[in-house]
Amino acid sequence: MIIKVKKRDKMEFPVTRMRRLRKNQNIRTILTETKLNPEDFIYPLFIKEGLVDGQKEHINTMPGQYRYSLNDAVEEGSKLEEIGLSSVILFGMPLIKDEKGSMAYNKDGIVQQAVRKFKEETDLVVITDVCMCQYTSHGHCGIIREDEILNDETLNYLSKIALSHAEAGADIVAPSDMMDGRVASIRKTLDLNGYYDTIIMSYSAKYASSFYAPFRDAVCSTPCFGDRKTYQMSTSNSQEAIRETKMDIEEGADIVMVKPAMPCLDIIKLVKDEFKMPTAAYQVSGEYAMLRASIDAGYLTSDSIYESLLSIKRAGADLIITHFAPEFLEGCI
Ligand code: PBG
Ligand code: ZN
Repeated sequence: MIIKVKKRDKMEFPVTRMRRLRKNQNIRTILTETKLNPEDFIYPLFIKEGLVDGQKEHINTMPGQYRYSLNDAVEEGSKLEEIGLSSVILFGMPLIKDEKGSMAYNKDGIVQQAVRKFKEETDLVVITDVCMCQYTSHGHCGIIREDEILNDETLNYLSKIALSHAEAGADIVAPSDMMDGRVASIRKTLDLNGYYDTIIMSYSAKYASSFYAPFRDAVCSTPCFGDRKTYQMSTSNSQEAIRETKMDIEEGADIVMVKPAMPCLDIIKLVKDEFKMPTAAYQVSGEYAMLRASIDAGYLTSDSIYESLLSIKRAGADLIITHFAPEFLEGCI
């Protein structure tokens, strides 16, 4: 006998019971869609010129994170490599800042030295943040004239910075400034100098987010006038993220990035679905601080870290830059 099932009944209770698939841990385990792996994570390291070895500085707005001397940063990186870290992104803090951020492209600058040492002593994938704000006396991500951040004048500087990182041996350069045309300019400069294999991971959809505050405190890069809203994207816009990302891809970006991560899960999904590019997401300092403080205060458990990282991967990120990388690798979360 054939019982005719009405179409709309097919998915309905009591025939379909969603809880069957959640019955016990083993069942749930074999049905897990999204998994986090050690190689998903990129760990940000802050390297401060002039710091004495063995005297890392605690960053108060990011409990558990430090500014390291050059040698200590490499040591920290190798320690984490032993427990499964595959990649780091390096941020430098120079002793001297000037109007044009000249220490950012000095071949003996702190990042250039660090890249060389990381490449000598580890097998980590070395990524460098390409920007000017830690190196300029005014704290903006570009060249300024009378309180205006000049786009085209900045491109030459960004290209020089990226080239100096490539010359030091960086595997990936990551421009985070949000000037128009910077990916094309960097690609051209790298290619002209024979660095056609240096990868560009562009901060393609980078929002003018309040979640960067602890980072700026950590590396002393708060702009001394105005804000970054003439170059970083408005947090109210999502279509603009598509246009920004499309331009970066057309200009030669190999990996695209969305930043911040948790406040932009919709953008990560949009970008991944639209372009199918290797996509990174940056779980920024404020996201770290927010979770860390709540966990330290006992308001949340450390499971919230895992869940936050999972949400970023589920949204479509292939790579996650996060200060929680060590905790994941140590199996604490
Ligand atoms: C600099 C830069 C910023 C971050 C990475 N590179 C901050 C900014 O735009 O001021 C943010 C990282 C974080 O908050 O963790 N262009
Ligand atoms: Zn910057």
